[in-house]
Amino acid sequence: MLAGLARRPRSVAPKFFYDAAGSALFDRICELPEYYPTRTELALLAERASEMARCIGPGADIIEFGAGSSRKVRLLLEALERPRRFVPIDISGEHLHAAARALRAEHPGLDVHPLVADFTRPFALPPAPAPDGAGPARRVGFFPGSSIGNFTPQEAHRFLRMAAGLLRGGGLLVGIDLVKDPAVLHAAYNDARGVTAAFNRNLLVRANRELEADFEPERFAHYAFYEPVRRRIEMHLVSLDRQAVTVCGRHFDFAPGETLHTESSYKYTVDGFRALAARSGFVPGPVWCDRDRLFSVHWLEARSGA
Ligand code: AVJ
Repeated sequence: MLAGLARRPRSVAPKFFYDAAGSALFDRICELPEYYPTRTELALLAERASEMARCIGPGADIIEFGAGSSRKVRLLLEALERPRRFVPIDISGEHLHAAARALRAEHPGLDVHPLVADFTRPFALPPAPAPDGAGPARRVGFFPGSSIGNFTPQEAHRFLRMAAGLLRGGGLLVGIDLVKDPAVLHAAYNDARGVTAAFNRNLLVRANRELEADFEPERFAHYAFYEPVRRRIEMHLVSLDRQAVTVCGRHFDFAPGETLHTESSYKYTVDGFRALAARSGFVPGPVWCDRDRLFSVHWLEARSGA
């Protein structure tokens, strides 16, 4: 956060949104009428889970990146044949453990093994359970919600390379938000109820609590727009006047109109994403899209010899 405030233009990584309050605000975003990605992907999972399950195969270990409240994986788990283990990874610990408890209650046969980690950095998977004679399980990654859109294409490439190594012999099921009418994108990140604005400003509320900062969140405007050249939504907090802020004993001045860039959310075409995956160690397989081509779910195979 300090490094991000010191550089120009100022920017912080979107992963810092997700304290307990931020994760709860994100869950509210997912229910908004303007925010189409969640309901569109849930409908795809509900309607096509059996086809996805055929790609995944029986007895797999499922690793979810950025699991949040694990709502989507439920639809997948119901369709899977004897899933062996579920490892949800999330940076937001409280939220993750609550979701894991609920899943355990629903799937008594499933080994649910939550991992509180930042998956943009190297992490170790929990050791596999004692062999049951069936050999090592197929590892399959689940990365829904187009969370991969928070990475730049370069970072996404690096993440996919890491994932292809981790999932060798299995694959990755990944949700990708698609390029579309900018007005639809704009509305999704500028909802009428101001939940996205509260989510954005929560970064400052969190800094006040955890970093002894003295931000006045109302003095920063939520500003989100679609940038069609890089095909990304940008979210900023724009200082409404001249102000001085202290964070961890360090002072930062904001001029009127100066911004803190808090998030980028890249959008892809189906072919563009498949090409990226193919450059990153995967063999792209089936793709599922809604009728309006708002959102896509991709099966990517991580071939053992590849
Ligand atoms: C979790 C990164 C997929 O970019 O749509 C939603 C986060 N930010 N509204 C997205 C978010 C503002 C979301 N991702």
